[in-house]
Amino acid sequence: MKSQGPQGNYYKNALGYFYDYFLSFNYCIMAVEMKDLVDLCKARWFVYPWSEIYGWLANSWDYGPYGALLKENIKNLWIKEFVQKRPDMVLLDSAILMNPQVWVASGHVGGFSDPLIDDKNTKQRFRADKLLEGLIEDLKKDKSDVFAYLTEKYGVNNLVPESWSLEKQTEVMRGEKLNNPDTKTPWDWSDAKKFNLMFRTSQWVTEDSSATLYLRPETAQGIFVDFANILRTSRKKVPFWVAQVGKAFRNEITPWNFIFRTREFEQMEIEYFCEPWKDLETHATWKADCMKFLTKTLGLDEANLRLRDHEPDELSHYSNATTDIEYKYPFGWWELRWVADRTDFDLKAHMSESKQDLSYFDPVNNRKFIPYVIEPSIGLTRLLLCTLIDAYTIDGEWEETRTYLKLDPKIAPIKVGVLPVVKKIGEDAKIVFDILSDEFVCEYDEVGSIGKRYARFDEIGTPFCVTIDSNNFESGNVTVRYRDSMEQEVVPLIELVDFLKSKM
Ligand code: GAP
Repeated sequence: MKSQGPQGNYYKNALGYFYDYFLSFNYCIMAVEMKDLVDLCKARWFVYPWSEIYGWLANSWDYGPYGALLKENIKNLWIKEFVQKRPDMVLLDSAILMNPQVWVASGHVGGFSDPLIDDKNTKQRFRADKLLEGLIEDLKKDKSDVFAYLTEKYGVNNLVPESWSLEKQTEVMRGEKLNNPDTKTPWDWSDAKKFNLMFRTSQWVTEDSSATLYLRPETAQGIFVDFANILRTSRKKVPFWVAQVGKAFRNEITPWNFIFRTREFEQMEIEYFCEPWKDLETHATWKADCMKFLTKTLGLDEANLRLRDHEPDELSHYSNATTDIEYKYPFGWWELRWVADRTDFDLKAHMSESKQDLSYFDPVNNRKFIPYVIEPSIGLTRLLLCTLIDAYTIDGEWEETRTYLKLDPKIAPIKVGVLPVVKKIGEDAKIVFDILSDEFVCEYDEVGSIGKRYARFDEIGTPFCVTIDSNNFESGNVTVRYRDSMEQEVVPLIELVDFLKSKM
């Protein structure tokens, strides 16, 4: 890794797990690309290490001025597509701290855990299932039938380590003499054990007693808990959907790869309440709708996305069907979002715990049922990472290369850069800024050579720059310069707003 001064360590730590663990998977060339993106994010105000002046809290990130705008734009597009444009959708903003019984009913208190294993030599802790997934990929390089090999030797009945018992995970780790992925030294593995991922906090009840509360690990439960309220107050009929965007928190043992897996993140979740007999067809429709949003609305490259249906033995106990939409990150294919058929599991669980009736009465057919739920769920911050990876472009050769973000104009944080060719016509350029900033998020820049200013706007993904020079301006014109082609076009000032709108 290239030296980056004191801050380099933050990124080294953040990516350290990735570098060491995946070196064995031949992803080292890709890792450099990821590092370049991380550097750009820091240098260009997208993502900063959190509380940096106190030495950073590992794997926590702040979204800087452009990152915050990009995140907001993605969120607003999602709301526009899935709430504004759909007559049967409502938006909810439920609380992060909920009654702890919610998490008992949902199964999170009892079962929301990762299998962890310690290397007793180094006292490091790892996710056993993830190390085993890596082992399987490694074995595939030498063995033609890894499933047959592991079945014969250990009696496993699938290649999904997450579904193996803790004893089986420990047995395979020890049997295959898996090295510590960080130190590459021989291991002394403890028994794998479960570790609950929910963050706890306390609420004072009296001066000397407190109740345990949890920071929500998903936004979904807020929707289930408010189901009856929404039904009553919105006069919706099944099928209808509830959407929610908000923070979620998970005490991930291996937060990983920049903002891919973090302890604090944002989710955009939809719970689609449908008739129980329509769940599978609704699930199929949602898979297509989600792909359409990612490719057509957000402009992600279709070649970087794929659907992966969960195998029957991989499905959660409550699910009839689950599909991951995976993205081709520089570090391999990993989950971006999932679309799950959650059946009536959650509503039934909350009915049983709260003793409230959460069934639905269908007045047209005069029948009562508990709706099934299809859940398209995506991490907003993870999606932001994908938009940056997708947009990261290097054009040209050798010294002539140009790095820029080819972000879709709909999500670009700054839509228009406003640049006087020389400082002394700044007053004229500010008039243009005033006109444009009423319609678009713009940035005014008069410092440095015009070429450097273009390069800076290209790097943050600004699709258009408007340049003002005195000759043109006197005849009522400005120049529009395009980020991707670098071509320029003279446009009358009076038509500028409509012209730019037509390009967004
Ligand atoms: N309500 C269902 C649910 O929460 P999940 O697969 O655990 O399902 C949904 O999470 C989405 O949230 C994932 O597809 C991913 O995009 C995002 N996500 C989950 N854990 C994350 C983490 N630690 N950091 C960033 N994003 C995460």
